[in-house]
Amino acid sequence: MTHSDHLADHPTPLEARSSGPLIGKVRVPGDKSISHRALILGALAVGETRVSGLLEGEDVLNTAKAMRALGAQVERTGEFAWSVRGVGVAGFAQPQAPLDFGNSGTGCRLVMGAVAGCPITAVFDGDASLRGRPMRRVLDPLELMGARVGASGEGGRLPLTLNGARDPLPILYRTPVASAQIKSAVLLAGLAAPGTTTVIESEASRDHTELMLKHFGAEIVSTREGTDGRKIALTGQPELHGADVVVPADPSSAAFPIVAALIVEGSDIVLSDVMTNPLRTGLFTTLREMGASIEESQQRGETGEPMAQLRVRASKLRGVKVPPERAPSMIDEYLVLAVAASFAEGTTIMRGLKELRVKESDRLEATAAMLRVNSKARLMCRATGLLPPTWIIASRCRRWCWGLLPTSR
Ligand code: S3P
Repeated sequence: MTHSDHLADHPTPLEARSSGPLIGKVRVPGDKSISHRALILGALAVGETRVSGLLEGEDVLNTAKAMRALGAQVERTGEFAWSVRGVGVAGFAQPQAPLDFGNSGTGCRLVMGAVAGCPITAVFDGDASLRGRPMRRVLDPLELMGARVGASGEGGRLPLTLNGARDPLPILYRTPVASAQIKSAVLLAGLAAPGTTTVIESEASRDHTELMLKHFGAEIVSTREGTDGRKIALTGQPELHGADVVVPADPSSAAFPIVAALIVEGSDIVLSDVMTNPLRTGLFTTLREMGASIEESQQRGETGEPMAQLRVRASKLRGVKVPPERAPSMIDEYLVLAVAASFAEGTTIMRGLKELRVKESDRLEATAAMLRVNSKARLMCRATGLLPPTWIIASRCRRWCWGLLPTSR
């Protein structure tokens, strides 16, 4: 039984008491998106990739296992330090057993892309939650590139067998939703195709795959498309070379101490090395609009990713309207924003939340349930026909029980 199955079967609430002010300096764990990508690109590169600050959580460790099963040498060399010796683009070996991604949609979908460009067959599987998540969104473009889906669950769900393409085709693909996982799967498959693989997204999603591909030596160009979109063109069949990757602290993990410090009077905390890629920091923008004191200093860049030190002080928050086009840059942070909103003076309106329904859990339901149990904030959910769901949170400072916050994304 996996950790998440266990939680589903034993939903006993944890008990937590409110504390005094939060004071001190902390480095939250390494970024999950970067950690998955460092292992996957390391496995597709020639030579050694050394990763420092890897997130050693279950999701990323499953990706490490998958990379080993596909022929890469993956070793832990120290605390959060890993070495990967890759097999080169399209060089994955036939795995001897199903690849089990546990709870991780990111690991599973990105590796599907990487496998789709190799002439091998692999079985993809995961826990009950991952088996329930939509995979068609990734399989559709991969089939256009020449991969074939063998047996699968209903609607292309896990467990499924993926036959990679012997001669993958480059495609031009418009993603139907702003999703870095779909974009990354297409780009990773496109590595093995001759010519240019192009992805167009009408709203830009996190660009870690693009930045890291460049860091590993690929030719990839990203240009603006419309008001909020991007067009990404990757030249196929590059020789990726192993590279050093420094994993910044995860802004999605930083979100929790940040919101805690903002709402507990007298708090003053410093978070080091937090990734500040603008396609991940929609929450910070929103919190600042709400009146949050979040100061950035010591900006630097590693592996193409910007990072900075953040100082966060308790602040009086006010409700705001969060525009739907900001959703991709804070898709994993709405839950913790709902906490901040329930402590803010006035009403917060969040729009464009449809994608939250198809994460590891239905995050719309989960957040509504969390607010019901823990606060007296009023939450109105609206799903009106074609309009994506909207949340309206109206509140004043209320009782809060931290122990009930889910921590995985
Ligand atoms: C991720 C992309 C997002 C995000 C997930 C990590 C990634 O998913 O929710 O936690 O690393 O590419 P979608 O691509 O489905 O929006």
